[in-house]
Amino acid sequence: MVQSLKIEIERSTAKKEKPPQDQLGFGIHFTDHMFIIDYAEDKGWHQPRIVPYQPIVLDPAAKVFHYGQTIFEGLKAYRTENGRILLFRPRKNIQRLNRSNERLSVPQLEEGIALDALQQLITVDEDWIPTEPGTSLYIRPFVIATQPALGVSPSTHYQFIIIMSPVGAYYTEGVNPVKIFVESEYVRAVTGGVGEAKTAGNYAAGLKAQEGAKDKGYSQVLWLDGVHRKYIEEVGSMNVFFKINGTVHTPALNGSILAGITRDSIIQLLKHWNIPVEERIISIEELYEAGKNGSLEEAFGTGTAAVISPIGELNWRAEKLVIRDGQTGELSRKLYETLTGIQTGTIPDPFDWMVEV
Ligand code: COI
Repeated sequence: MVQSLKIEIERSTAKKEKPPQDQLGFGIHFTDHMFIIDYAEDKGWHQPRIVPYQPIVLDPAAKVFHYGQTIFEGLKAYRTENGRILLFRPRKNIQRLNRSNERLSVPQLEEGIALDALQQLITVDEDWIPTEPGTSLYIRPFVIATQPALGVSPSTHYQFIIIMSPVGAYYTEGVNPVKIFVESEYVRAVTGGVGEAKTAGNYAAGLKAQEGAKDKGYSQVLWLDGVHRKYIEEVGSMNVFFKINGTVHTPALNGSILAGITRDSIIQLLKHWNIPVEERIISIEELYEAGKNGSLEEAFGTGTAAVISPIGELNWRAEKLVIRDGQTGELSRKLYETLTGIQTGTIPDPFDWMVEV
């Protein structure tokens, strides 16, 4: 049961012009409104409000700028052919937000309040939900530490904010395979660190390697573990899957890997189709061996933004491994079509994932 929240709504008087749906890009355009709720140690979460989308004013000493105490989420809303608005597994995002909050010493948010905020903001800006195939309304909830103080300790004040952006494909390649550079120098995260939290520092830490990969003509990097540079963790900002000899393998969650909601959904779909799926440790040597002996059938990344992104080529220590002649695999395509079909309401949802707004 959603806890009902009295949210004050201040409507925007100047509506922005909406971008053409074939030129949305990813996270470039923002809707007319945003949600904000404040936190103070003595008041808890208070003063929820929906206001016109606008810059936020923060003290330059706010802890978020100095010590990175911040968390974000990403989820999508879809408009179905018959005009319904559907959210994909929103409770999972709120639960993960709270796990990230816990890791970053940020106070918990009541699940019902966060869900109610999402629903009310989407309703206010519902005419921003794009309808063309491959588009959706990307929702970015985030928490920032706002206390102006330079001592290293958890902030006493926070803001939880939700902004929304109509989006097209995350990668310009869409569901076409991307080329991936296997990163042997830099690492994204280590077990015991904050790798499993959705926090800004993990993404900042990845930029250097991502730039290096781009310079060499690759779209993204494949991250290996921080201790041995041997075991596969993630691809870019996505989870990663490999189909080897008919079984689908994905790295087991080990504390440094983000527990993707698309990852979990893919595992559930594969089990539903009776396709064997294993969460386990996978080494890069083993993957290359499977590539060379012909048993590596498909490789793909999974995430909210791109949904499924097939991998067409890997480069590890200057050795190239072309997967499926660089073509999109049948399973990658079927998973993409099924998941986006469930999300947009064109395919029945056997899992009860979709939540109507
Ligand atoms: C996702 O795959 O949804 C991500 O986490 C990427 C996002 C940071 C843009």
